[in-house]
Amino acid sequence: MKVLVIGANGNTATRVIKRLAKSKHDPVAMIRNPSHRAKFDKLGVATVLADLEYPIDHAVQGCDAIIFAAGSGGKTGKDKTVLIDHIGAIRSIVAAQVHDVRRYIMLSSINNDINSQSRIAHYHRAKAHADNHLVESDLDHTIVCPGGLTDQKGTGLVSLKAELQGSGLTSRENLAAAIVACLDCDNSVGKSFSLLDGDTPLADALRAL
Ligand SMILES: NC(=O)c1ccc[n+]([C@@H]2O[C@H](COP(=O)([O-])OP(=O)(O)OC[C@H]3O[C@@H](n4cnc5c(N)ncnc54)[C@H](OP(=O)(O)O)[C@@H]3O)[C@@H](O)[C@H]2O)c1
Repeated sequence: MKVLVIGANGNTATRVIKRLAKSKHDPVAMIRNPSHRAKFDKLGVATVLADLEYPIDHAVQGCDAIIFAAGSGGKTGKDKTVLIDHIGAIRSIVAAQVHDVRRYIMLSSINNDINSQSRIAHYHRAKAHADNHLVESDLDHTIVCPGGLTDQKGTGLVSLKAELQGSGLTSRENLAAAIVACLDCDNSVGKSFSLLDGDTPLADALRAL
C-alpha cells in the first residue's frame, strides 16, 4: 500500500517511516519544511510538502492509507492545538474520503474526551473531536491511543485495552510498531484502543482485539 504519513518528521512518525521503508509498503513522508527532505532522501523515502493548516489534497491523492501522527506539540498556543490536532486532523479525514483513501490510522491519546477537564483539556478535547469525526466517517479506521510517550527502547511488549481512560507510558518504538502492524491487521479495522508498555507480545495483543 502507498501510505501517507502525516507529521512524518515527528519523533514517532520518523520511527513509523523507518519501519515502513523496510516493509512491503510504500511510505510517503508528508513534511511542511523542505529542509526536512534530506532526512527522508537518505532513507529512500518519497516526500510531499503539505501543511495541515492548508489544503492537503495533493498529498492525499493516489494513496491507499493514511497514518496521522502530527500534532501541534506542547510548546504552541491552544489556537494551534485546534488548528492542527482538531481541524487539521478532520481536514485529512475529509481529504481521505474525497480521494477514496480507505484506510486511516490515527495516532491519538488516552483520556480523550470532548468534555475533558484535564490539565490539558484543550488537547484532549481537540483529539476527541477528531477521533469522533473519524469514527463517524465511512473510512476503515483504527485509533491508537498511547499514554505518555518515551524514547525508551521498544520491547515489543504492550498492554492493549478498549478502555481509553487511564495512565501509563508508551515507548515511541512500541507505538510505531503497533501503528505499522495495524496496516496488516484487518482485526484492527473499526477499533479504538489504548496502548501502553506492558507484557503481552504486540502481535498477540492485536490478534485479541
Ligand atoms: N507527547 C506525549 O506524551 C503524547 C502522549 C499521547 C499522545 N501523543 C500524541 O502523539 C503525537 C506524536 O507525538 P511525537 O512526540 O511523535 O510528535 P512530534 O515529535 O511533536 O511530531 C509532531 C509532528 O507534527 C508536525 N506538524 C505540526 N504542525 C503541522 C502542520 N501544520 N502540518 C503538518 N505537520 C505538522 C510537526 O512538523 P515539524 O517537524 O515541521 O515541526 C512534527 O513533525 C502527538 O502529536 C500527540 O498528539 C503524545
